[in-house]
Amino acid sequence: MRDLWQTMQGARCGQGARCKMRSWVFIGILAVQGVASAQEKRIDSRPEAEPETIHFWNNECATCHGQKGEGIEEAKAPALAGLPDYYVLEQIAEFRQGLRKGVDDTGSGFVAEMHREAVELEDDLFRKLAVHIASLPVQRPHRTVSGDPAAGRQPYRELCAECHGAAAQGDPVKRTPPLHGFQDWYLVEQIRRFRVGLRQPEPSHGESLRMHAMALRFPSLGEARDIALYINAFLPLQPDAEP
Ligand code: HEC
Ligand code: HEC
Repeated sequence: MRDLWQTMQGARCGQGARCKMRSWVFIGILAVQGVASAQEKRIDSRPEAEPETIHFWNNECATCHGQKGEGIEEAKAPALAGLPDYYVLEQIAEFRQGLRKGVDDTGSGFVAEMHREAVELEDDLFRKLAVHIASLPVQRPHRTVSGDPAAGRQPYRELCAECHGAAAQGDPVKRTPPLHGFQDWYLVEQIRRFRVGLRQPEPSHGESLRMHAMALRFPSLGEARDIALYINAFLPLQPDAEP
């Protein structure tokens, strides 16, 4: 039941492509359970964010994450557009618990700012912001790191697809994020942060522990760059397209 609830959380996340994907995964699971039609309606009738929430987003979050949630490299801020609400809320919780540290060992203050936002703002506001984030359409980011996208294909399929999905669409049951739509530099930076301990696994979440172990087993960040380039160069942003 807990898994189903988490799946529902993942599916009920608005109109963005990442979310539509979750809706399809969710609908598929429910169809197996024979209750698809009632739940489809609930997904479709999910409200969009209120104007005050969008106003807050534009004034507070968009400074770093961009108005369309496209992310801003200069602020070290990831693209958030289309991220499922369960994942956004979990990450806010991880900032608060200190599993994601408000420290930037490369010398910028933006991660500390993000940490402060997570600690100071109220739960209810984050829940509303998560609805807005989920409704933003996913965009394909520009290439910024050097490496070989084709060389990333095999390691992605062997090491990552099991949890993040063949099309990097994420998995609401395993509570993994989609990886498509993130900037390549951000994907590599998060692997690095896992490796140096600035990002710790969530101890009660087996897949999070395995993700941490996965980051540590990379011989170098070169492979992570190839994988990030592969995701952004080849994988579809639309849920119904084949990888
Ligand atoms: C000062 C810049 C800044 C502001 C303002 C800011 N963020 Fe962030 N945000 C960041 C940075 C930098 C990161 C990446 C942190 C890291 O690498 O650990 C981040 C990460 C996140 C993440 C985690 C994403 C993921 O994929 O793991 C979420 C969710 C998030 N921000 C939401 C918000 C929301 C909602 C607001 C507005 C209330 C906000 N941020 C305001 C800079 C900012
Ligand atoms: C066992 C399941 C599993 C496998 C295998 C796995 N991941 Fe993950 N990954 C996760 C989970 C769960 C999270 C969220 C972790 C957390 O925040 O506690 C995550 C988070 C991430 C993030 C951070 C995204 C963000 O929003 O900040 C990146 C980047 C990532 N994974 C890349 C990869 C890559 C690349 C591979 C393959 C080399 C991989 N993962 C393999 C489960 C997995």
